[in-house]
Amino acid sequence: MKSKTPSQSATINTEVVLPNDTNHVGNLFGGKLMQWVDITAAIAAQRHCGRVVVTAAINHVSFDKPIRQNSVVTLEAKVTRAFTSSMEVIVDVFVENPSTGAKTKCNEAILTFVAIDQNGSPLHVPELEPETELDKKRFEGALRRRQLSLVIAGRMKAEDATELKALFIKE
Ligand SMILES: CC(C)(COP(=O)(O)OP(=O)(O)OC[C@H]1O[C@@H](n2cnc3c(N)ncnc32)[C@H](O)[C@@H]1OP(=O)(O)O)[C@@H](O)C(=O)NCCC(=O)NCCS
Repeated sequence: MKSKTPSQSATINTEVVLPNDTNHVGNLFGGKLMQWVDITAAIAAQRHCGRVVVTAAINHVSFDKPIRQNSVVTLEAKVTRAFTSSMEVIVDVFVENPSTGAKTKCNEAILTFVAIDQNGSPLHVPELEPETELDKKRFEGALRRRQLSLVIAGRMKAEDATELKALFIKE
């Protein structure tokens, strides 16, 4: 299976925050943002592997800055690493200044997708070849994040999470 670069599947989605998308203090509702994040990330994962994908885990979401009604929101998703059947995708969320067009990063989310066949069984996915310095940094950290996610999900024993342990225990 031929490997792919992050830019081959990079996905950009632009939305506007309508009144129905806001919470009681007039900011974008977190659940609405998660919907946009999940869809944008799933498209990137699907482009990477050319298969149907499902969300296996939402590993991390940070709501760093509130996003006001009427804001133009851009979501940029990239596959950061591919394992056997799973792929990690990071979504960077930006808000555009309407007069200057300058973008401010407001949120970040990390998700795991799995490619499946028509019976829902996991399928092999192509490897990912990181290109930029940021791609390489995110690629390296992905194994650690995968182990953390699997330990939290009860799918891996903490003592087997070698990359994760190396962060805390210096031998
Ligand atoms: C995701 C799913 C296909 C995994 O199926 P499974 O039978 O458990 O398969 P496996 O145990 O072989 O896991 C498949 C891959 O998912 C990864 N995975 C599963 N849960 C994970 C988690 N919480 N975090 C990170 N990776 C996870 C495994 O590590 C494995 O990766 P690899 O093949 O790259 O090594 C299955 O659990 C599923 O269909 N879940 C529902 C998905 C869904 O409906 N999502 C929509 C939102 S509700």
